[in-house]
Amino acid sequence: MEMRRLSLFLVLCSIVLAMPAVYGTAQGPKEVEEWFQIQKLRRVKEKVTKLHFYFHQKLNGENLTAATVAKANMTDTSPTFFGLVNVIDNPLTVKPRRSSNEIGRVKGLYAAASLEEVALSCVLNFVFTKGKYNGSSLSLLGNDPYRLPVREMPIVGGSGVFRLARGVAKFRTYFVGLGAPPQNVTVEVDIVALHY
Ligand SMILES: *[C@@H]1O[C@H](CO)[C@@H](O)[C@H](O)[C@H]1NC(C)=O
Ligand SMILES: *[C@@H]1O[C@H](CO)[C@@H](O)[C@H](O)[C@H]1NC(C)=O
Ligand SMILES: *[C@@H]1O[C@H](CO)[C@@H](O)[C@H](O)[C@H]1NC(C)=O
Ligand SMILES: *[C@@H]1O[C@H](CO)[C@@H](O)[C@H](O)[C@H]1NC(C)=O
Repeated sequence: MEMRRLSLFLVLCSIVLAMPAVYGTAQGPKEVEEWFQIQKLRRVKEKVTKLHFYFHQKLNGENLTAATVAKANMTDTSPTFFGLVNVIDNPLTVKPRRSSNEIGRVKGLYAAASLEEVALSCVLNFVFTKGKYNGSSLSLLGNDPYRLPVREMPIVGGSGVFRLARGVAKFRTYFVGLGAPPQNVTVEVDIVALHY
């Protein structure tokens, strides 16, 4: 019995050594199963990763990154845009300027789902495309009371490097263009996430 456990452990260790640095789409379901076994056997301590970046949303003109896919017949007369649903694919950059280094995209959708204030119910995926996080993603699900200077939303999961992630995202509006809803927005994002 002990021997079998030891040999299983050695097999799993060799899997760890042979495991490529890239997770995510490069691995099939079998590798994911093995990955779970390894985390359990080694009782791996979770890492804390802090991320800081900006995303840029453009709702009109050239190279737009957001589209309104639905609205209610009361949206246009609602002071909180109630019923508006936007789908986005916004670039993530390291600096506030749109022209700074792009490290990924935030893809997903949000709905203006509050009658009392402007608050967006968000389903967002931060999909990273550079460096050690290339191919990994973090998923956010939360309520964004857009007019507050700082908003907090939960990170509820992740893929690749961020498998089984959980954490906290803080949004701060960095720039708002003209219009209602505004046509250009830059948001500063801080994320602290626990993951293996
Ligand atoms: C739109 O994108 C193209 C290609 O990246 C770029 O050349 C052009 O300047 C962009 N237009 C605006 C208004 O940003
Ligand atoms: C909105 O739609 C409902 C149901 O279709 C209708 O009864 C109502 O009159 C509409 N309201 C406006 C402001 O158009
Ligand atoms: C990110 O990963 C993809 C797929 O593995 C690869 O094609 C691409 O070159 C990588 N990009 C960077 C910047 O490492
Ligand atoms: C929106 O952003 C573009 C650059 O992407 C800029 O040229 C334009 O002046 C901005 N518009 C507003 C209303 O802020």
